[in-house]
Amino acid sequence: MKKLILLTLSLLSITTASHAQGLKDIVGRHCLVGAALNQWQSAGKMAIVDTIVNRHFNSAVAENCMKSEQLQPAEGVFDFRQADLFVDYCEQHHLTPIGHCLVWHSQAPAWLFAGQPSREQLIRRIENHIRTVVGRYRGRIHGWDVVNEAIEDDGSMRRSPLYDIIGEDFIEIAFRAAHEADPDAELYYNDYSMAIPAKREAVCRLIRNLKSKGIRIDGVGMQSHVGLDSPDLVEYERSIDSFAAENVKVMITELDMNVLPNPWQFGGAAVEQNFEYQQKLNPYTEQLPAAKAREAEKRYMDFFQLFYKHRQQISRITFWGISDADSWLNNWPINGRTNYPLPFDRQYNEKPLVKKIIDLYNH
Ligand code: XIL
Repeated sequence: MKKLILLTLSLLSITTASHAQGLKDIVGRHCLVGAALNQWQSAGKMAIVDTIVNRHFNSAVAENCMKSEQLQPAEGVFDFRQADLFVDYCEQHHLTPIGHCLVWHSQAPAWLFAGQPSREQLIRRIENHIRTVVGRYRGRIHGWDVVNEAIEDDGSMRRSPLYDIIGEDFIEIAFRAAHEADPDAELYYNDYSMAIPAKREAVCRLIRNLKSKGIRIDGVGMQSHVGLDSPDLVEYERSIDSFAAENVKVMITELDMNVLPNPWQFGGAAVEQNFEYQQKLNPYTEQLPAAKAREAEKRYMDFFQLFYKHRQQISRITFWGISDADSWLNNWPINGRTNYPLPFDRQYNEKPLVKKIIDLYNH
């Protein structure tokens, strides 16, 4: 009897021990694993988030509070309150902090492009922003998304004010400035729809061009706002291989999975996209039907199988949010939908997906 009790007790402790292993203990053997935190979460206002973070993550990125419109709302006027809290939170919770993002045409303050700035003026504005922001967190931010979304899906340069006013070299100007401000920080290029061949090739050219000029670039972020049917996994895998072949780290930076029907014109992840609400495009307001949940889980596992296969090339996996309740996909590209894109449900319960990912990496 005593033996039986002892056996049961030790079995119990084994199950508890393995159950206690989070993503960071298993996936974290190979790469950083984390999530984007919104400002309530990184201000430490959500105890349930602290619990999940402590158990599963060893890295985090700020979902919005390090974007230029938040950090420099008026020229020369910086507001670091939320970003400071984010960096403090990461240090308290042993998370490797990633900075997102220094130069992006979107979520930029209106003054940045106002008054028809000359090329020199805009360069000065950008350099000053980068110096101030990267300088403030020098030694505390592991890596920065230096430039976000500068390339179109067809491989051409995006005709943003950055490109129109400065020209293609706004990218190298930004990378140089970031490197000067924190010589130890890793520097990344980050974009969506990276499985599209023309875009992939343009990003590879960009890496080669920067490197040929002796400019530091450490990694490429594949945002990975994926869906049930796209991107094509073969093309997605080719992109992992192609970026790795350029000798940069490959990072899965904004992983989430839209499970809702899309308007036919929808594509990519340009935040400007906005379509009118229609009931038929919001079919799962109460709950996700079991068959759809299985389909989403399977599709997620298809991606994670790739991540596992390429674990020597992939240095970070970051979900774009923690729970379905906080996902931007509830409001983009259509406002007011109920989406189910993340590994934790609306009540912050772990979906079975999490255990499946752990099991996949645990052999
Ligand atoms: C999104 C945030 O999640 C939203 O809260 C915000 O309203 C818009 O931006 N690509 C990026 C991210 O690089 O910064 C975007 O984040 C999602 C698409």
